[in-house]
Amino acid sequence: MKTDTSSLEIIKSTTSKLDQTKLDKLVFGEIFTDHMLECDYENGKWKTPKIKPYGPIELMPSAKVFHYGQAVFEGMKAFKDEDDKIWLFRPEENFKRINVSGARLAIPEFPKDYFFNGLEELLKIDKEWIQKGFGNSLYIRPFVIATEECVSAAPSTKYKFMIICSPAQAYYSGEVRVKFSETFSRAADGGVGYAKAAGNYAAQFHPTNLAKEEGFQQIVWTDANTHEYLEEAGTMNIFFRVGDKLLTAPTSDRILDGVTRKSIITLAEEFNIPVEVRKVSVKEIVEAARKGELKEMFGAGTAAVINPIVGFGHKGEKFELPKLEDTYASFFKDKLMKIQYNQAEDKYGWRYEVKQ
Ligand SMILES: Cc1ncc(COP(=O)(O)O)c(C=O)c1O
Repeated sequence: MKTDTSSLEIIKSTTSKLDQTKLDKLVFGEIFTDHMLECDYENGKWKTPKIKPYGPIELMPSAKVFHYGQAVFEGMKAFKDEDDKIWLFRPEENFKRINVSGARLAIPEFPKDYFFNGLEELLKIDKEWIQKGFGNSLYIRPFVIATEECVSAAPSTKYKFMIICSPAQAYYSGEVRVKFSETFSRAADGGVGYAKAAGNYAAQFHPTNLAKEEGFQQIVWTDANTHEYLEEAGTMNIFFRVGDKLLTAPTSDRILDGVTRKSIITLAEEFNIPVEVRKVSVKEIVEAARKGELKEMFGAGTAAVINPIVGFGHKGEKFELPKLEDTYASFFKDKLMKIQYNQAEDKYGWRYEVKQ
């Protein structure tokens, strides 16, 4: 898409933090680039977006976001190839999803040209923050918050859309063992599980802390009605390999329609890996583990791409997965990353160049 900067106000920072930033020692999500995008909604419309130096925003304590959590967000990444070209991965999906999430929380739709023009211009201004090298990226966090100064429990009349960016290195979380949830739920039928609503994530913290006390790193969320079906792993979609078959739950109003998940399903079909998108029961996975047929479990999401799971706990019992040489997890991770970093053919048109 052509960048039309006429609909964008740009105030450049006079200094840069890049010199003092150790780009080889990054903790995920802690450091932010020099600029951010800000766009306010008032009187029924989005005003001209602004790029300005990264810094604090001023809000009244009565701003609705603080009281009712009317807020949604996205997570995406920019990659730099060996020729310094900048690429995004399926950004249309993130654009569509922030509006799907927003609609569920009564947040007005954000315009597509503002999203793409603003994001591309921001990436060009902060391009030195995007490091080359397989695994390095710039994590992009678009979000919307309700800013109206009023504590009545009704949708805000004012909003702020923002994009902030954080340099990231390859994600490594150590060995991940998960607990299949037996009581807590992250989403319910008719609820907001399919939306990237801020509150969904806050609600996960407490159960996840309890699981950590038991020696697990993450929770696998089960369906809220019966806790018999496996739905998502922490903040990722989840895949199981039973024998040579790949299983993953269908998307629903409880499950986020992940970009990584749907890309893996497409690749599995291309490479003749049998993939079944259907409800996956706790019972069948426990049985497969007992019989030695459960070969892999992994989470899929933008931050980690793929996060292998080495073991799980269910009703007090702990299971370890076999250590395989050739895993589906590493196969898909390599395939996806090569497309993201412009090192492989892009059959499906997933790569999106940020023209400089
Ligand atoms: C709850 C949840 N599920 C799944 C995902 C993975 O989605 P994606 O692959 O689009 O990053 C995310 C992260 O974005 C998430 O927050």
